[in-house]
Amino acid sequence: MRYAVFGLLAVITIFIILQFIDKKGTRAHITRGYLIGIFSLIIVIINTVEFSIKRGGLVWDSPFIIHLLFGITAFSLFTMTVITGSVARKEKSMVEDHGNKARLLRGFLILAVATGVLIRLFR
Ligand code: HEM
Repeated sequence: MRYAVFGLLAVITIFIILQFIDKKGTRAHITRGYLIGIFSLIIVIINTVEFSIKRGGLVWDSPFIIHLLFGITAFSLFTMTVITGSVARKEKSMVEDHGNKARLLRGFLILAVATGVLIRLFR
């Protein structure tokens, strides 16, 4: 299951890079957008189940709580990115807001992944 998680993470990373450099508002842009959220959710489910079984429950130490807070913020920003993106298809004044949410999302995803790595280092 570790390989599935790393594979999905690699795909998400490529998709996020493409969201910023490839043509915006296209069917590919929108499909990638939804897939980023779906793949992220699959990673969270695999990790939660796997670590719960391995350790007999989640370990609520500071690195995990910080990782969780960055993750929750990222999912909230993802929801806002999708909503503003959907509105931006018809209402061009929403494009700037969508871009801002997307940049914040990128930042919090990086923080969530970085603190995910920290969990291992601190234990
Ligand atoms: C999943 C639903 C999404 C929809 C429906 C959507 C739709 C759109 C639309 C319509 C535009 C404007 C295109 C134009 O210039 O006319 C746009 C721009 C953009 N999108 Fe998305 N998008 C989605 C997800 C995402 C995600 C997940 C990201 C990045 C993480 C992203 C990053 C961007 C960026 C950076 C721009 C350019 C904004 C700017 O010019 O300031 N989008 N998107």
